[in-house]
Amino acid sequence: MEDKIKKIRKILEDDLSNIKELNNLLGLKAKYFGKKGLITELTSNMKDLSIDERKEVGRVVNEIREEASSKINALEKKLKEKELALKLEQEKIDISLPSCKLKRGSRHPFNRIIEDVEDFFVSQGYDVVDGPELETDENCFRLLNLPLGHPARDAQDTFYIDEEYLLRTQTSSVQARTMQSNVDKTPIRMICPGKVYRRDEDATHSHQFGQVEGLVIDKDVSLADLKGTLELFAKKMLGKNTKVRFRPSYFPFTEPSVEVDVSCFKCGGRGCPLCKQTGWIEVLGAGMVHPNVLKMGGYDPNVWSGFAFGTGLDRFAMFRYMIPDIRYLYTNDIRFLKQFYRKDEENEIK
Ligand code: PHE
Repeated sequence: MEDKIKKIRKILEDDLSNIKELNNLLGLKAKYFGKKGLITELTSNMKDLSIDERKEVGRVVNEIREEASSKINALEKKLKEKELALKLEQEKIDISLPSCKLKRGSRHPFNRIIEDVEDFFVSQGYDVVDGPELETDENCFRLLNLPLGHPARDAQDTFYIDEEYLLRTQTSSVQARTMQSNVDKTPIRMICPGKVYRRDEDATHSHQFGQVEGLVIDKDVSLADLKGTLELFAKKMLGKNTKVRFRPSYFPFTEPSVEVDVSCFKCGGRGCPLCKQTGWIEVLGAGMVHPNVLKMGGYDPNVWSGFAFGTGLDRFAMFRYMIPDIRYLYTNDIRFLKQFYRKDEENEIK
């Protein structure tokens, strides 16, 4: 027995000095204390011994068991500490290093315009609604008094997807949608900002641009309401000294129709290259909702009347921020976007 224990002690010393990694320790525990472990085996012939012998063997086996397990545990603790120290060393953060400069974004000029338009109309009691860019011919044209073959369709070079579906050329399609979906036929006061598409492209026209549509339907709505609303709107967007001029025009879905000019905010109306020396800049199309459009939308034109308007959002952004080419608004060039710092917003016309 003595010899056996001596031998085990020797093997244990060798093992302990050879182990350098924590995960090898698990096997070591099994080697001594497992079912067939070196120490467990010492007690395999206990049943053949006398009571006194058993006591003696039990004592020495316990001794070596405790000795082995405390040595193995001590090694385990040491290796764990070593591992942790290594990990801490590897993950050390040098908090004295200077930080890299965070790049701050800015609000896109286009979004600034949309938010201002929404602010104004929400303050006047309008809802802001949304409509799909992939539209039906019916909503974009037919329900707006533009039947198939109507010559005014040519003015809006349309991207057709198939015979019925197209990319909307005007947010006016949302007029049709709003009237249709308002099943109770109650009054409507809505604006809809959104993207529209036309087959057009140069410095002032993009194949994609932004419009905002407005529609009011109620009893006794008159052209005077339209004029008052658009005058307030123009002053809010372009400054309180802005003058507004209404010219007769034609849109199939409004009657009478008007085009709205604002006094040139660059020269104040005296004439300059921006307004082509006329003192005026065209910004809006509008008019009283055509009786046919009311009828197709389910509103009796003998009871209801309304006005509608549509304006290009890009133009407002271009005027306000002196952007020479509409395409800058869509190319996401960081050199362009960087020019719209947040602190500039305080100086904007409000
Ligand atoms: N939809 C017209 C356009 O795109 C603008 C407009 C809207 C005119 C509403 C009258 C009423 O040119």
